[in-house]
Amino acid sequence: MHVFIKDFGAHVDEEVVVRGWVYNMRSSGKIAFLQLRDGSGFTQAIVSQHDAPEPVWEAVGTLTIETSVEISGVVSKHPKKEEYELQVRDVKVLHLAEEYPIGKKEHGPDFLLNNRHLWLRAPRQWAIQRIRHTIFYAIHEHLASEGFTRFDTPILTPTSCEDTTELFEMDYFPKENSGTSELSEDGTEMSVHDKAYLTQSGQLYSEAAIFSLGRVFDFGPVFRAEKSKTRRHLTEFWMMDAEIAFADWKENMDVQERMVQAIIKTVLERNQQELQILERDTSKLEACLVPFARMTHAEAVAKLQSMGSDIQPDQDMGADDETMLMQEFTTPLFIEKYPAKVKAFYMKPDPEDSSRVLCSDLLAPEGYGEVIGGSERIADYDLLVAKMAEFNLDRKPFEWYLDLRRYGSVPHAGFGIGLERTVAWICGLKHVRETIPFPRMINRLTP
Ligand code: 4AD
Ligand code: MG
Repeated sequence: MHVFIKDFGAHVDEEVVVRGWVYNMRSSGKIAFLQLRDGSGFTQAIVSQHDAPEPVWEAVGTLTIETSVEISGVVSKHPKKEEYELQVRDVKVLHLAEEYPIGKKEHGPDFLLNNRHLWLRAPRQWAIQRIRHTIFYAIHEHLASEGFTRFDTPILTPTSCEDTTELFEMDYFPKENSGTSELSEDGTEMSVHDKAYLTQSGQLYSEAAIFSLGRVFDFGPVFRAEKSKTRRHLTEFWMMDAEIAFADWKENMDVQERMVQAIIKTVLERNQQELQILERDTSKLEACLVPFARMTHAEAVAKLQSMGSDIQPDQDMGADDETMLMQEFTTPLFIEKYPAKVKAFYMKPDPEDSSRVLCSDLLAPEGYGEVIGGSERIADYDLLVAKMAEFNLDRKPFEWYLDLRRYGSVPHAGFGIGLERTVAWICGLKHVRETIPFPRMINRLTP
């Protein structure tokens, strides 16, 4: 009977069939130890020359790393630990692998990234993708439990949501192919939509959705033409945007805090094996299961200046500042009320100081920096129109967004969490490139 390695515990002393790959092996003359993985877990299969039929022992002698196999054997339990092994009866080679390019020696990041399609098989990469999976579902489960409905926002968009300098532009239907056309002033026919942009965040569409569903979230790939070559930046990454009707910026932070704690708890519950493979110090994650620290941008700047940074009160916080500031915290930290001019056009000005906005960034500890950006939104039509003019935004493509302030406008707030930065933090990884199956960066589009 076919059994997944993860279920061995329920099959001790039974004969089972495992289908998987040999990722390592060693032999001590008369006994061969095969390290097997099947996607669900890892185990050791033991073949003894004495007990195995001659053809089985011979087959074992031909095995190469990454050969796919179907092995039958009897599951045995380690006398002391919760570990199981397979005492092999039969080995069927499904495909004898060619010499595997990823060996035991140290490889540089470029080599590994060029071989990402193979590197994904390594136990560490397996563990990271499993934790990514848990985080993805933990977010869904948690938000659903708080009454949020998933709402899918478009990837092809006519406008920018965040910084226009980071937009990926593409041809949509240039003139001759366009279904919808109109006459321009000089009488020539031109297409209405000859350009499109890859979405930077589904937020503006999620805002439309709250007027139907109250509390919503989207979760999908977003794109930023980021020229930065840092350990935190990808050009394609996954974001979850949540949007909440009738919430202010404070309630927005409370929702984030509960969600981030739910993520940590769920990973600690479901992924102990993976965290061990990654050698993650889980006490650092457990330390985050208390109320998060909060301070204003002005307080953060004062603190940073006292620590030696040259940041100014009207400036955004750079990655170095975030790292410096977080040396003092063992929990995530909300930084509230950034200067209006360094944040997006849709953020509500602080009634106490209109040069600042009612926003918050959530910084993760251990030097990880910003994982969430959020704010209360401008709900007032006139104020939004004025703010768009200040940001030099052409209002025509945003008419629909302005409509949301014409028909039953309500206070509302929301936030966006970057999945890869969250995975990097939870897994304790230096760089976001290992957190997404096939990373896209300024200098990488393959495989
Ligand atoms: O702070 P950002 O730009 O916020 C927004 O896009 C809002 N519209 C979200 C909202 O309010 N609904 O991006 C949100 C998060 C960041 O905190 C960060 O975790 C991640 O997205 N992020 C990136 N992750 C990887 N690579 C990049 N280039 C990223 N840019 C942002
Ligand atoms: Mg941000």
